[in-house]
Amino acid sequence: MHTVAHLGLGNRGRAHADVFVRMSDRFRLVGLCDLDRAKLRAYAAEKGLASEMLYADVDTMLAKTRPDVFSFTTQPAVRLPLVELAVKHGVKGLALEKPMATSIQEAWAMTKLCRENGIKAVVSTQHKYLTSLQQLKALCDAGEIGQILQITTSSQAWMAHLGSHYVDYMLWANNGARAKWVVGHVHGRAYLQDSHPAPEYALGHAEFENGVRGFFQWGKLAPSYMPPTSLWIDNRLTVYGTHGHVWADTNGRWGAFTKSSNGACIGEEGEPWSRQADQRAQPLYARDFADWLDDDAKIHPCNIDLAYHGHEILEAVCISAMHQKRVDLPLDPDACEDILSVMREHLPDCPQRPGAAPAV
Ligand SMILES: NC(=O)c1ccc[n+]([C@@H]2O[C@H](COP(=O)([O-])OP(=O)(O)OC[C@H]3O[C@@H](n4cnc5c(N)ncnc54)[C@H](O)[C@@H]3O)[C@@H](O)[C@H]2O)c1
Repeated sequence: MHTVAHLGLGNRGRAHADVFVRMSDRFRLVGLCDLDRAKLRAYAAEKGLASEMLYADVDTMLAKTRPDVFSFTTQPAVRLPLVELAVKHGVKGLALEKPMATSIQEAWAMTKLCRENGIKAVVSTQHKYLTSLQQLKALCDAGEIGQILQITTSSQAWMAHLGSHYVDYMLWANNGARAKWVVGHVHGRAYLQDSHPAPEYALGHAEFENGVRGFFQWGKLAPSYMPPTSLWIDNRLTVYGTHGHVWADTNGRWGAFTKSSNGACIGEEGEPWSRQADQRAQPLYARDFADWLDDDAKIHPCNIDLAYHGHEILEAVCISAMHQKRVDLPLDPDACEDILSVMREHLPDCPQRPGAAPAV
């Protein structure tokens, strides 16, 4: 049983808090914090939580509750100071949202703090627990597509939203192998000032240390597999091997040609995202977090080290595009410029395609 103090009751933060409340055999929610007191009171009333558990100030919450786990769900600009508070208050576990940061320096500082202080930290790339992605991984692990040669991923939403998810799924499908180099293209200024700042479209290619090639696309020019209204769930991960290939979508569908399918395409529509997100993906993500907290050997598949490498790859795509060169990894965060500022200064205006998502 792990005590948890949670910060953030936006749409996404509620999903995290809900699971901590529901999984009372693994977690005990001891504190809840949001700057918005109306949200706090409404949530507490809905869940029957005691008013003594509610805080508007996070430092006070952590000092009073001394939780095992600090979970925070905030906009991307609010990250490092909260990780510093986690260190100050000696938590054992930390749960935060993607994208893990808005700069490589911040992402590295967070990762380093967790490593140096023995904090088990997870970044919420929970699509791994969807049945479609689980099926993809199971077929790969069973050798059903032979040796992995190439992995592709595409998302209609831009890099800071779904790129941070799907680069992580590429790493996961490739069993955590690190990228050696990255090349990339980026364009479009529309989202550079967004809460999730990134170019409108990004295209990248990486070689991993096990020889596998990765190709990724994020933004409206990427291939689309769903109606245009499905911006956030129009994502696909595909793994090609020596003996077949398998693909998985966020909305439950998967398909494959495998050794055993003898030339036939197998697959299923699966349960849609709306039925899996809170009922399946979130609880399984939290269960694995509790398991890791209980047992050092059960390292969470969404651990911060993997997330940091994903962040490095996203950053490298942008650096490569802006400087027209191959970028070798690992990056030296101290030697990296603020690539968002570079893009804001130098990327030309780009007319949006009809149907492109509005800036939010
Ligand atoms: N993993 C996923 O599937 C998924 C899905 C949606 C959103 N997200 C991510 O979740 C994150 C949050 O999204 P959201 O839509 O819930 O954001 P939001 O802005 O709606 O909610 C953030 C909440 O945090 C509170 N807050 C911020 N700073 C605080 C502080 N210092 N002290 C106390 N409260 C504070 C705000 O008052 C707000 O209620 C984003 O990074 C987003 O990308 C992830």
